[in-house]
Amino acid sequence: MTGEGSSPDGGARPLHSLRRDYESAPFDETDLSDDPIDQFSRWFDEARAASIMEPNAMTIATVDEHGRPDARIVLLKEFRPEGFVFFTNYDSTKGRQLEAQGDAALVFYWDVLERQVRVTGRVERISPEESSQYFASRPVKSQIGAIASPQSRVMEGRAELEEMFRRVSARFETSAELERPGSWGGYLVRPRTVEFWQGRRSRLHDRLRYLHAGGEWLIERLAP
Ligand SMILES: Cc1cc2nc3c(=O)[nH]c(=O)nc-3n(C[C@H](O)[C@H](O)[C@H](O)COP(=O)(O)O)c2cc1C
Repeated sequence: MTGEGSSPDGGARPLHSLRRDYESAPFDETDLSDDPIDQFSRWFDEARAASIMEPNAMTIATVDEHGRPDARIVLLKEFRPEGFVFFTNYDSTKGRQLEAQGDAALVFYWDVLERQVRVTGRVERISPEESSQYFASRPVKSQIGAIASPQSRVMEGRAELEEMFRRVSARFETSAELERPGSWGGYLVRPRTVEFWQGRRSRLHDRLRYLHAGGEWLIERLAP
């Protein structure tokens, strides 16, 4: 890697010279809701209104049994007063890591708004009924994919995956017969901290963090 390439500004600039000055309006304590989910809801609405392809795409970081971090993107499917919900395979790498060590961190980045949201917290499964309800609402091919794919397992090749998909499709005559596998479902991330980062001029960014302490949310400003 040379760190060089064509960039939207037209030139082939070295990677280390790519930077921009953020222009956003101030974001301060008086703008904040008392509740971080409520605050998230306001920012999420703005992200949805902006031209962001998948505003609900978030990085989720977990740790393995040696304490080594691991991270990947998943889609936020719901947020509720208790926290943030996503769906996955409970037997996947992330699923096994979460079952063993139920702490996770989430990161959203909404570039056109110059905003980042970071969440840390405990993770738990949502109820089987809620997972089944969401599973049933998914497109049939996604349901079949979730049944067929042993997520995170090493495979022989693409043909093995396609064969698994074919076999599952053949087993079910109608989509009404498709049932959520017990190994697939939702997780709820119950926040312990939620930080809202707003890019500002001259790197004097605003960082406001909610910390759950003694049953209340404490709001602190952090140095950028
Ligand atoms: C935009 C995007 C959305 C994704 N959404 C999900 C999701 O909602 N659930 C999921 O299990 N994997 C999702 N993935 C795939 C994961 O990033 C990852 O490859 C997969 O979950 C296996 O991760 P693991 O082996 O660490 O468990 C998504 C990937 C991308 C790029």
